[in-house]
Amino acid sequence: MRVARTVAEVRAAVRAARDDGASIGLVPTMGALHDGHLSLIRAARAANDFVVMSLFVNPTQFAPSEDLAAYPRDEERDAHLAAEAGVDLLFAPGVAEVYPPGFATTIHIAGLTDVLDGAARGAGHFDGVATVVTKLFHIVAPDDAYFGQKDAQQVLVIHRLVRDLDMPVRIVACPTVREPDGLAMSSRNVYLDPASRERATALNRALEAAAQTVAQGRVDAASVLAAASTVLSAAGIEPEYLELRSPDDLREVDRVETTALLAVAARVGPARLIDNRILEAA
Ligand code: PAJ
Repeated sequence: MRVARTVAEVRAAVRAARDDGASIGLVPTMGALHDGHLSLIRAARAANDFVVMSLFVNPTQFAPSEDLAAYPRDEERDAHLAAEAGVDLLFAPGVAEVYPPGFATTIHIAGLTDVLDGAARGAGHFDGVATVVTKLFHIVAPDDAYFGQKDAQQVLVIHRLVRDLDMPVRIVACPTVREPDGLAMSSRNVYLDPASRERATALNRALEAAAQTVAQGRVDAASVLAAASTVLSAAGIEPEYLELRSPDDLREVDRVETTALLAVAARVGPARLIDNRILEAA
C-alpha cells in the first residue's frame, strides 16, 4: 500500500492505475478504523481493481462545540488495517492540502440537510461533508465510492450531490456493521465508559422494538415511536431526535406505508451516537 499526502501524488497514482485499465474504488473515512470501515474497503476491493481510502478528519464538518480536537487519531494503526483489508493507496493529507489559505467554496444541499443531524448539528455539518466529498471525488475520480448506511442521511445527501452536479461516480451504500450486542460500530464508541457502553445498546434495541411493532401490524408513527421511546427511557436515554421519515427524501411520514426510515440520535455519557433502521411493512 502506498501513502499519498498531496493531491498531485493521488492524481499521478490514479492516472497510472487507469493507464493499466484499472477501475477505481474510493472509501472516504476519518480514520479510527473499525469493522464498519473495513466492510466498505472489502466491498470496494471486491468490485474494483484499484482501491483508494482517504483518511482525513475533516474540520469543516465539526461544529465549534464538537469533538474535532478529541477525535481519535492513530494513522499507524489505520494504515496497517487498511493495507490488510486491501487498500492500494491511502490518501492522508494535512489540513492545508485540503483547505489551503483563501479556501472559500462551500457545497450546500438544501432541504435534505435541514432535518435530523443537519438540524441537530447545524447545517454546517453536511456542508462540510458535501464539500470534502466533492473534493475527494474530483481528486480521485473514482468509478465507485462506498458509504455506510449507518449514516443514512449522509448517504442521501451524497446521492443528491452526485445527481444534482452530474458527478460520474456510482454511490454504493453498505449495511451497518454492529457489535455482537447490536451496538452500531462507530469511531466514537471509544468514548464510552463501561456503564455508558452498556446503556448504548438501547439504541439498537429501540429500533428493534419499533420493527417488532411494525411486524405486528401497528404501522402508525405514534405506535412505532412509542415502542422505541419506551426502550430508550428504560435505559435513561433522552434522544436528541427520534423520527420516522421517508427513506427517499426524509419527509416526515405518519405511518410505515411500505418502508420508512427510523432515525435516532442520543448523547450516551460522553458520546453522541446515531443509529437508524429501515422499517418495512409486511
Ligand atoms: P467516518 O465516520 O470515518 O465514516 C466513514 C464511512 O464509514 C462512512 O461512509 C460511514 O457511514 C461508514 N461507517 C461508519 N460506521 C459504520 C458501520 N458501523 N457500518 C458500516 N459503515 C459504517 O462518515 C465520515 O467518516 C465522514 O463524514 C466522511 C464521509 C469521510 C467525510 O468526511
